[in-house]
Amino acid sequence: MRRLIREILTATESADCIEAAGWVRTRRDSKAFSFLEINDGSCMGNLQVIVDAGTPGSEDLTKMGTGASVTVTGRLVPSQGGGQQWEVQATEIRLLGTVPEDYPLQKKGHSTEFLRSIAHLRPRTNLYGAMFRIRSRMSYAVHRFFQERHFHYIHTPIITASDCEGAGEMFRVTTLDPLSQEEKSFEQDFFGKAAHLTVSGQLEGETFACALGNIYTFGPTFRAENSNTSRHAAEFWMIEPEMAFCDLQGDMDLAEEMVKYLVVEALEKQEGDLAIFEKFIDKDLRRRLEFVATHPFERLPYTDAVEILRKSGKSFEYPVEYGLNLQSEHERWLTEEHFKRPVTVFNYPKEIKPFYMRINDDGRTVTAMDLLVPGIGEIVGGSQREERLDVLLANMDRHGLSIDDYGWYVDTRRFGSVPHAGFGMGFERLLMFVTGMQNIRDVIPFARTPGNCEF
Ligand code: 4AD
Ligand code: MG
Repeated sequence: MRRLIREILTATESADCIEAAGWVRTRRDSKAFSFLEINDGSCMGNLQVIVDAGTPGSEDLTKMGTGASVTVTGRLVPSQGGGQQWEVQATEIRLLGTVPEDYPLQKKGHSTEFLRSIAHLRPRTNLYGAMFRIRSRMSYAVHRFFQERHFHYIHTPIITASDCEGAGEMFRVTTLDPLSQEEKSFEQDFFGKAAHLTVSGQLEGETFACALGNIYTFGPTFRAENSNTSRHAAEFWMIEPEMAFCDLQGDMDLAEEMVKYLVVEALEKQEGDLAIFEKFIDKDLRRRLEFVATHPFERLPYTDAVEILRKSGKSFEYPVEYGLNLQSEHERWLTEEHFKRPVTVFNYPKEIKPFYMRINDDGRTVTAMDLLVPGIGEIVGGSQREERLDVLLANMDRHGLSIDDYGWYVDTRRFGSVPHAGFGMGFERLLMFVTGMQNIRDVIPFARTPGNCEF
C-alpha cells in the first residue's frame, strides 16, 4: 500500500517493502545509480530514492525530470548520506507523467508576482505547499477552538437579500441579462427581489445565537470593494462567532483568546512548514509569534487611540481626528511602533459604524471593537449588538433601513431579547499574520481582486 512521505520520513524502523509516489524535485545521475528527491505534498520534506542501473523502470530515468510523477517500490533503509534519516533503495520505479521543457517550475527563485500568474501550479513549490498546508491546519484549528468551547457551527447563506455592513460593497446575484436593452425589474428576477452575495453572515448568525446560545460561522464572504490593497480580496473567508448573554468585554476576551490559540497551533503543529517562512519571508516570525502567544494584548478606547496618534508627532498620510476612521497606517503605527503588540481598540463613534452596534451610555459611541496586529492592522472587527428594540429601530431609521426588509432581524429583539456580541475574523488576514506573507493574494488558493478573476 502506498504510504505518505510524511509517514515514511518519521518511520522508526527499516522496512523491506514500501511504496511511495510523488513528483520529482531533483535527480542526479551517476554511472551505476541515480538519486531522486520526490515530494508528494504531504509535508515539506522530500524522500530520497536510490535507483540502481538495471532496476525495473530505470530505462525511463532520463524522462524523470523535475515535475515528473513517479511511483516507487523499495526497501526503506537508514540513509548513508547526511541530510536525511531514511532513504529508499528502489526495487522498481514507474514513470506516470512526463514533463516537457516548458514546465515553469523547473528553475527556482520565481517572484511571488510570477507565481500568482500560475496559481494552478504554485502549490507545487515549497513555499506555497507550506502555505496551503498551514491554511488547512488552521481551518481545522478554528473548528476545534469553537467545538471545544461548545459553539455550534451554523451555515449561514451565501446568497442573501440583506446588507449587514451597509457599506454598499455587494455583488449582485441575478439571472437577468445585464446586456439586454429591455427594462427589467427585480420582480422578474430569479428571487423576485434584489439578491447579493453575502458580505457577512452576522445577521443570520445572530438569529441562531438567540436560539442556540453560542454559534459560529466560517465561510466565504464577498466584497466589491474597489480597493486594490494587499489586505483586501473580493472573496475571502470569515470566521464569525456570536454569543448570547455576552457583552463587549466577553467579546474582546474571546477574540484575543482565539488569536493566541491559532498562533500556538501554528507554532506547535506546523513547525516544519513555518520554518520556510522564517527563512525566506520574515526572519523575525517565530520570535514575534512566540511573543504574541505569551504576552497580554493592549486594550484602549478609540478616543485614547486618537489622542495617542495625535500626540505621536508622526505625519500620517490620512488625518487623525475624532470621528474619522482609523486607517491602516494608524492601526499599524499603534501596534508596531507604540504598543509593540496586538491592540484592541473599542468604543468607536457611532457615525462610522453599522446600525446593529449597541449604543453606549454616552450616546456618542458604540460598543465596536477592532483587534489590530503588527504587520497587518485590523484582523478582527466586532461588537456588542443593540438588543433594545426601541434603540435598534431608531438606529435602523438613522441608517435608512426599512423594517419591511429587516422584520425577521427585529423579531430577535421583540421575542426574548438578550444582550449578545460577536465578531468577524478575516481568515486570510490571520494567515498573513501567522506566515508573515505580505500580500493577501499569496495566502488564498485563487485570489479574486478588482480586475482579476483567473482560474
Ligand atoms: O470588520 P468587518 O467588516 O466586520 C463584519 O463584517 C462584521 N459583520 C463581523 C461580525 O461582527 N460578525 O470584517 C471582519 C473582518 C475584518 O476585520 C477583516 O479581517 C476581514 O473581515 N475583512 C477582509 N478580509 C479580506 N478582504 C476583505 N475585503 C475584507 N474585509 C474584511
Ligand atoms: Mg472592520
